[in-house]
Amino acid sequence: MKVAVLGAAGGIGQALALLLKNQLPAGSELSLYDIAPVTPGVAADLSHIPTQVTVKGFAGEDPSPALKGADVVLISAGVARKPGMDRSDLFNVNAGIVRNLIEKVAQNCPKALIGIITNPVNTTVAIAAEVLKKAGVYDKKRLFGITTLDIIRANTFVAELKGKDPQKTNVPVIGGHSGVTILPLLSQVDGVSFTDDEVVALTKRIQNAGTEVVEAKAGGGSATLSMGQAAARFGLSLIRALNGEKNVIECTYTEGDGEYARFFAQPILLGKNGVEEYLSVGKLSDFEKQSLNGMLDVLKKDIILGEEFINK
Ligand SMILES: NC(=O)c1ccc[n+]([C@@H]2O[C@H](COP(=O)([O-])OP(=O)(O)OC[C@H]3O[C@@H](n4cnc5c(N)ncnc54)[C@H](O)[C@@H]3O)[C@@H](O)[C@H]2O)c1
Repeated sequence: MKVAVLGAAGGIGQALALLLKNQLPAGSELSLYDIAPVTPGVAADLSHIPTQVTVKGFAGEDPSPALKGADVVLISAGVARKPGMDRSDLFNVNAGIVRNLIEKVAQNCPKALIGIITNPVNTTVAIAAEVLKKAGVYDKKRLFGITTLDIIRANTFVAELKGKDPQKTNVPVIGGHSGVTILPLLSQVDGVSFTDDEVVALTKRIQNAGTEVVEAKAGGGSATLSMGQAAARFGLSLIRALNGEKNVIECTYTEGDGEYARFFAQPILLGKNGVEEYLSVGKLSDFEKQSLNGMLDVLKKDIILGEEFINK
């Protein structure tokens, strides 16, 4: 398996690359690309870790050499939030970066499974889909917005509150990946119950957890280490599914049947071709139904912004 990380010299990219160097199956190739000239050095640094994963680093304007033959492409290239910004403030810079990188993915590895980390994910995934469509290679089952950070945060916060093991806590998170579009399904967490006040407070904390980190880093960026962990978990799930493992399920933002919005995060059974099956969001509580209805206008606007960026 060949995994390419685009934006590999950044805060997320380096954490992600470190985790993949240690956790990809033996014989895999890790291909790192970033416009930053340090990237071959990041690869050299990682290559001294004794695992059976080869690492190559590429810098410069053209990601093509990093992408040739890639099975999985994970994209974290772009700018991160500063205090006072929300994810949509990143649109102007990151939209163009994602468009240009996806054009190269379309040319060099059109069959790769693509995971988008670059924010605003609600919009950058729509941009990627439209670019791939224009290039005639779009397969909706191969493009994913990585929302795993919302899931791991939800698992952590619920386990903390209820005195559970966070590694055995599993909170599905559906919708999108910013503000009110992030909807943790607390009613579906096995073995715990919540008061109404707890549901409101926890939901809000999970939705705003990114801002907690942005403010604590005080201008030094947004979540990188937890996001590296989240992206590694998702990327490794894609690889396990590509390798034929059954029952690999992740909540992720994809184009499904459009019941709620063109793109929507929900549990997905992963397989050799990406999405194997779109799984149901399950039974929702009244609070969750209301929150779902309340988010859809925001989510749909975010999606249209991405579609129009490419098509207008
Ligand atoms: N999906 C999520 O849950 C999530 C969570 C946190 C951050 N993010 C997003 O991930 C992105 C990266 O965050 P970070 O903290 O790693 O930022 P960072 O600034 O540390 O790293 C970004 C990297 O992208 C590189 N880059 C910029 N333009 C590029 C291009 N055209 N081609 C290749 N590389 C390019 C930069 O050189 C830099 O190394 C941001 O958009 C951030 O908002 C997403």
